Amino acid sequence: MAMLTRRTLLKGALVAGAYVGGIGLAGRFGGLASAQAATTLVARPGEAMITDTGPTRGIMTYGDAEVPPILRMRRGEAFALRLDNRLDEPTTVHWHGLRIDNRMDGVPFLTQPYVYGGDGFDYAFTPPDAGTFWYHPHCNTLEQMGRGLAGVIVVEDPADPVFDAEIVLNLRDWRLGGDGQFIAQFKPRDAARAGTFGTVRTANWRQSPQYDAPAGGLVRLRLAATDVTRILTLQIEGAEAEVIALDGNPAATRFALDHLMIGPGQRLDIALRMPDTEGAVATLKDLRGTKPATLATFRAVGTSLKRAIGDLPALAANPLPEPDLSAATEIPFILSASAEERPKDGICGSLGYNFWAINRVPWADDSGDPTAPLAEMKAGKTYIFNVKNPTPQVHPLHLHGLAFRPMNSSKQAIRPHFSDTYLILPDEKVQLALVADNPGDWVFHCHIIEHQKTGMTSYVRVT
Ligand code: C2O
Ligand code: CU
Repeated sequence: MAMLTRRTLLKGALVAGAYVGGIGLAGRFGGLASAQAATTLVARPGEAMITDTGPTRGIMTYGDAEVPPILRMRRGEAFALRLDNRLDEPTTVHWHGLRIDNRMDGVPFLTQPYVYGGDGFDYAFTPPDAGTFWYHPHCNTLEQMGRGLAGVIVVEDPADPVFDAEIVLNLRDWRLGGDGQFIAQFKPRDAARAGTFGTVRTANWRQSPQYDAPAGGLVRLRLAATDVTRILTLQIEGAEAEVIALDGNPAATRFALDHLMIGPGQRLDIALRMPDTEGAVATLKDLRGTKPATLATFRAVGTSLKRAIGDLPALAANPLPEPDLSAATEIPFILSASAEERPKDGICGSLGYNFWAINRVPWADDSGDPTAPLAEMKAGKTYIFNVKNPTPQVHPLHLHGLAFRPMNSSKQAIRPHFSDTYLILPDEKVQLALVADNPGDWVFHCHIIEHQKTGMTSYVRVT
């Protein structure tokens, strides 16, 4: 039933861009692991229709369509993909939120060599967790992500509750001038503050697209905040909406979506109960900032299915190791501002400044000589990251390869869940508890890319 609905939506109602590219289809419908292994992901330059002033040139994207494909995987099943780099600069792919082998993590120097233009790299791993994740480069990231390289990953679990439809939204901005062409991504003055904001807001590379879904039906809405800068305060008007997962992992108890703040790198899975009346519209809004923005709308079609969110079973838990707080080692992390010029010589695009640091050390970026790890952890042991943010900015802090449990914030009520990205507020102190169960060097950085690229990056080592 759900499959039929989903396929119907696939063919008809969703605007182009929601489900495009052979990869998503192969991953979803190909029954055999070998069918998945044949997949190639091309990174290439291109053009895209983002504004109505004509095509935006100088786009970078993955795959054949305008918008990077949704990569579909299954929890516990092998996935393989060859990156084929047809850009004229080096790139890599990082699988944000997937707890996979360190060699597959996509960080130049630390975990793999650059993939130069004309070259390729074979990624192969088994995603251990179901949920909504995403993929993006870890090289010249401001430019490459700013120009389009960011796609959503859906890891399915056969035990997932059945919805009447699924809608996946890649939420991001573009820094375009009035002529629809790119303008400078980086303004040093802004990088030293909240970051440089885009000018055109999109969902799946469209401005406020509308999606159709069955009236009175339950939609699994998967949102990924893939912008390089913008923090969102999300609200849905005109329909009942409950958060069922945060950053890929199930919420301990689902709760109504109400002015929920998410930062770059974060994801939300929402159970959206469509209005009963045919033609009625629900609206996803960002209420942050002075002017609320409509990100997407959802229109009810057909006669009401009369579903209730309360009938939805809980999401299956992911196999995450529970931190043993009685035997935890605490590690301090302090975020800070810094100010120094740097040579602009990096292969992966140094921005020429350090404005930020973690534990007073700004990241040496892609100098070929990264700083020492900020912490060394023993495999299987529990650690608590005591993170302090004395800066006046909000920072979405992302840890690769491991999942943590946010606990004991000095400023926010914490909903129990596992995550890979924590949005820390100005003057906040928070504890992130984790089991260091995945060996390797794991990057820990702010996901406001200008902060990341001007020093707010470091890494920890698990041996
Ligand atoms: Cu989403 Cu270091 O990355
Ligand atoms: Cu930051």
